[in-house]
Parts: sequence; structure tokens; C-alpha cells
Amino acid sequence: MPTAVAELMSSPPVTCPADASLSEATTLMDRRQIGAVVVTERDAVVGILTERDLLRAAASEIDPHTESVRRWMTIDPDVVRVDDQVDAAWSGLTHHHYRHLPVVDHGDLVGVVSLRDLLTVAQIRPADEAGADVPRGLEGVVVAETSVGDVRGQQGFYHYRQYSATELASSRSFEDVWHLLFDGSLPDREGSASFAARAATLRDLPPGLAGLLPTVATGGSPLDALRTAVSLLGAELGWPPGLDTDHDQRRAQALRLGAVVPTILTAVHRLRHGLDPVPPRSDLSHAANYLWMLSGREAPPAHVRAVEQYLILTIDHGFNASTFTARVIASTGADLAAAVVGAVGALSGPLHGGAPSRALDMLDDIGTPDRADAWIRRAVIRGDRIMGFGHRVYKTDDPRSVFLRGVAGSLGGDLVDFAEQVERTAVEVLAELKPGRQLYTNVEFFAGVVMHTCGIPRDMFTPTFACSRTVGWATHVMEQAADNRLIRPAARYVGPPPPQPVPAP
Ligand SMILES: CC(C)(COP(=O)(O)OP(=O)(O)OC[C@H]1O[C@@H](n2cnc3c(N)ncnc32)[C@H](O)[C@@H]1OP(=O)(O)O)[C@@H](O)C(=O)NCCC(=O)NCCS
Repeated sequence: MPTAVAELMSSPPVTCPADASLSEATTLMDRRQIGAVVVTERDAVVGILTERDLLRAAASEIDPHTESVRRWMTIDPDVVRVDDQVDAAWSGLTHHHYRHLPVVDHGDLVGVVSLRDLLTVAQIRPADEAGADVPRGLEGVVVAETSVGDVRGQQGFYHYRQYSATELASSRSFEDVWHLLFDGSLPDREGSASFAARAATLRDLPPGLAGLLPTVATGGSPLDALRTAVSLLGAELGWPPGLDTDHDQRRAQALRLGAVVPTILTAVHRLRHGLDPVPPRSDLSHAANYLWMLSGREAPPAHVRAVEQYLILTIDHGFNASTFTARVIASTGADLAAAVVGAVGALSGPLHGGAPSRALDMLDDIGTPDRADAWIRRAVIRGDRIMGFGHRVYKTDDPRSVFLRGVAGSLGGDLVDFAEQVERTAVEVLAELKPGRQLYTNVEFFAGVVMHTCGIPRDMFTPTFACSRTVGWATHVMEQAADNRLIRPAARYVGPPPPQPVPAP
């Protein structure tokens, strides 16, 4: 049985220059009957271009004759060494999203090893190795393929489809990005207006839900009410199991859900405070209407744009816990409402979406910049988590936090300056007390600051997050349904050895 990568790899590797066109690369791959080419520049490996990259390019309707390989390749790909064991290549391929890895010998490219090459070895392994253990918390485990977006933790970069999410937040409306996720492309001016207008007509609560909301809103938190309300919505609108629907039906449900969730949440918020819900206005954008329904006042344009940018930044973010939950539920053939109810439950946990209000509570508790060092030091030594810091995937600055720090800065105010001072202190103290863990601010820290500055009440921070993430969840549910296989992993049993005699009653 081959044990070293050298015995399995294809050599010599097929390469292509970074400034070749996509059509040249495609011709090359087609002629050589391969699924990927290694991209080189001045003899150094700078990337890899795979069939998946070509599909992404094709989906975005670019001209393959003028578009360069450099723009579509995966940059700085992981590599394996020629004398690595097969297991090293196997974990490289399965723990990341790759199907091909360049093979190097003392830095020189000597071959390519593919998932298919490795499967020939995997197939002849003993059966008891099939149920491989994975890291706790499934860290780094690839459980699905997606073309919705991805997160590159080491680079501090994430994207929706083929676009940088932060660039989208700089230049596009929430509705445009919503269209990108649902339909796979950014709309032109006309498409943008018609998509936004269509979504705006779907904001009203259906009558049954509107009647029940005063009861649903009392007790618990706004997210608890959202869970119940989404469940009621799906039942009232008669959404059948996903298994019995086609794409058009699922998309129509998803649009309705994305449009109505802000209405549900703002109505819940007002009912909890003894106020009448403010009906949605179809002449306002998604973000402007959200702030309108929350307070009954038109918000200043700077606040609308800040909240809109926050909403864009939080639509999707890889296989986070709530998205994974939604996809697991969708994989059973359940309906969209069921998937989103589960996702809301996952989002409500402080380790996922429940942190921004806690981050602001922490700022309140710290009070003044001179108290930050001692406060944070005490908390970390006690074993507490500093809310708004650390991330499973980002081991550098979270790009959402960087963006929102800028948004907060442009809004201005004492809280923003104070938050920046606390951030600096927390990063220093965490680096000292938790060396090597690479703990920086995550999205939640400045999200709280931005939302507070824009007048969103603290208990509506995570619900505001739920408004945008609903669009991401629904996109993933549609993707799962389009190419479904039941998600059903296994667990290692560690209890008392069975079978033992059942004691008599
Ligand atoms: C987001 C989070 C859950 C990721 O956790 P994770 O990938 O499972 O990381 P781990 O729990 O394995 O933590 C690794 C180490 O860093 C420490 N750490 C992680 N986040 C920390 C934080 N916010 N404050 C203090 N220490 C932290 C852990 O204590 C652990 O230290 P140890 O090695 O001494 O045990 C975690 O960073 C966290 O709890 N952050 C605070 C909550 C938050 O802001 N959530 C919003 C996420 S967007």
C-alpha cells in the first residue's frame, strides 16, 4: 500500500501562469483531463485554479477570454511535502476545502496530489478506521460544499459568492446583497429596484400571527418570541416540508421570511414595552424601515446606513453554529420555518450571537479607561470570557470588527473612543495572559457600539443580528435542499459498557 505522497502524486504537475486567461486555463485542464492546475509566477507557486473556481467564474457571467487566472485562483494554497505520509495529505485535503494539493520538494513544485489519488488508499484501509474521530467542536471539519460564501481565518477575509463581504458593505444596499445570495448575482439598477420593491410588499404580518403576537411577546426574550413567531408563521402560511417543495416555492418562502422577520421583532419589542407595533412602510429601504418600525420615527440617514452596513456584514459567515443547525434541519426535508426556528435557538447562545449586549454591559461595568486593565485582568484570571473577543476561525483581526470600528468612528461619540481604548487594553492583556491564543475583537464588540449609537436598544442587538442572518440561513436552506443528503454523523459511546442486565423494577 503506498504510504508516501511521492508514490501517489501526479508528476510532473500541470502549471499555468497567473496572467493566463481563464479560457486558456480551461483548455489546458480539458486537454490534460485534470481538475486543477497549479498557478505559478516566476517559478514560484502562487495559487491553484480548480474546477470549482471555474464554476464560480462561470456563474458570474464574466468573459473567460479577458479574465485572468490570478483573479479566480485560490491564493497561497496549502502544500504537502513529497516525503509526507499519505495521512498528512489526507488531513490537509479533508480538513480544508481542497481537492488538490501541490506537492513540493525543498520548496520546488514536483507534483499534485488529489482527493481521488488518496481515496485509492482510503478504500483499502481497515473498516474500523472509517468512523474517523474529528476535533472537538468539529473545528476545521468540512461537512458540506457551498457556493454561498466562505471565511479565510488566517487572512481575516470573508466573502459572499465571489465578492468581498466588506466591499459589498461599502458600496451596495442590503437588498442588493440579499439578491446576490438568493439569486447568485448582483442586480443591475433596474433589478435592484424591482427586488427591493418586491421584498417591501412582503413585510406585513399575516393576520393570525399579528393576533397572537401580543401573547407571544410577553415573557422570555425577543429571540424567544421570534422562535415561536417563525413557527407560527410557517404553520399559518401552510409551508409544506421542504422535501415536497420546488426551488421557486422555497425561494418565495425565503423572501417572505426575510421581509417579515424585522416586522415580527420590532412588533415584539414594542409590545414588550406596552407600545403598539408600528406597521411597515414600503417606501423605505429594509434598514430604514427596520429603524422606523422600532421607534416610530424616521432615523437620520447616517444611522440608517450604519445599521444597513452592519446588516450586510452579518448576513452570512461560513458554517457557523446557527447556519449548520439550519442545514441539518433542512437536510431532514423539514420546512424553512423549522430550519430557522432551530437556527434562532443556536444564535441565542452567548458564544454565538448573544455577545454584543454583554460586550456593552462590560463597557458599562468598566466605566472609565483607567479601570480597563485591572477589570479585564481580573476577569481572565477568574476564567471568564471577555465578550466580543476571540473567534473560532479568525486568528487575526475579524474584518467585520475592523469595518464596524470604522463605522463607529464615523458616527462619533464618547462611547466609541472609550470602546477603542478598552479594545487596545483587552488585546494586550489577553496576549499576556493567554499567549499564543490570538484573541482579537470579533464582530460583536463594535456591533454593540454601532447599534447603541444608532438608538437600537440593548436587548434588540442579537435580534437585529437575526434579521440579517435570516437571509443567510434561508440561502443555505435553499442550497441544502437543491442537493440534499441527510446530515447524520456519529458519536463515540463512552458510557458503561453494554449490554448489562437490566435491573428488575
Ligand atoms: C468565540 C469563541 C466561543 C470561540 O471559542 P473557541 O474557538 O472554542 O476557543 P476556545 O474555547 O478553544 O479557546 C481557546 C483559548 O482561548 C481562550 N479564550 C477564547 N476566547 C476568549 C475570550 N473571549 N476571553 C478570554 N479567553 C478566551 C480560552 O479560554 C482558551 O484558553 P485556554 O487554552 O487557556 O483554555 C470564544 O472566543 C469566546 O467565548 N468568545 C467570547 C464570546 C463572543 O464574543 N462570542 C461571539 C463570537 S462571534
